[in-house]
Amino acid sequence: MVPSMSVAALVLAAGRGERLGADRPKAFVQVAGRALLLHALEALAASQEIDQVIPVLGQNDRPAWGELALQLDSISKLSDPIIGGAERQDSMAAGLAALAADVSHVAVHDAARPLVSPADVDRVVQAAKRAGAAILAVPVRDTIKRVRAGRIVETPPRSECFAAQTPQVFEVGILREALAKAALDGRIGTDEAEIVEALGIEVCVVEGDPGNIKVTDADDLLLAERLLAGRREGSAAE
Ligand code: CTP
Ligand code: MG
Repeated sequence: MVPSMSVAALVLAAGRGERLGADRPKAFVQVAGRALLLHALEALAASQEIDQVIPVLGQNDRPAWGELALQLDSISKLSDPIIGGAERQDSMAAGLAALAADVSHVAVHDAARPLVSPADVDRVVQAAKRAGAAILAVPVRDTIKRVRAGRIVETPPRSECFAAQTPQVFEVGILREALAKAALDGRIGTDEAEIVEALGIEVCVVEGDPGNIKVTDADDLLLAERLLAGRREGSAAE
């Protein structure tokens, strides 16, 4: 029997967006006329590799979600939202705990990345199906310095430096084990790969698109707006 490979996407949207400083949680801030979260959900749902899309929301976000869900009937892969936690890792854990038993792989994505392309989602999921763990990342252009107390401690070769993006995709069992070890070690990773690396498991890097930015502050929101507008013009010209 061929084992079933069902892939669920957790779209993490439970952060407050303090650095953006908007009048509402970041995931519900509009860019190009729609909430960041809506862009992210639709991009993942448009990937042929994703079977199910699950939003992970803040505990006070149910009313805002109710409004957003009215615009969502086109997303057939959408599941009911899960409520996240205080840290990104807690939100991921809440989503992971809610996955059905038949889910073999999980793609963790930031709601704050509205520009990911369905084709890049396809590629990183396919890599994770082969290798067990894979993330999107882009080569950095600047030389990266490790700095402590205002002093450079190391200059890693630039050709080996990448900026991690999402989605980050794993066999469900690997991410569960990584989370258990992180809890034991008191480690809070800034992404999923960090806690999977700590298991000694190799994580495959799939080169992504620099346009898959994370909206962190107000400048990023303007950039996302421009990139989305450019994309619409591009498709109108086709
Ligand atoms: N996130 C989450 N649960 C948390 C913290 C973050 O689901 N407890 C999500 C955010 O909603 C976001 C993604 O993780 O989509 C990346 O985090 P970040 O960009 O830091 O977003 P915020 O934490 O919302 O922003 P800030 O740190 O500025 O408050
Ligand atoms: Mg944050």
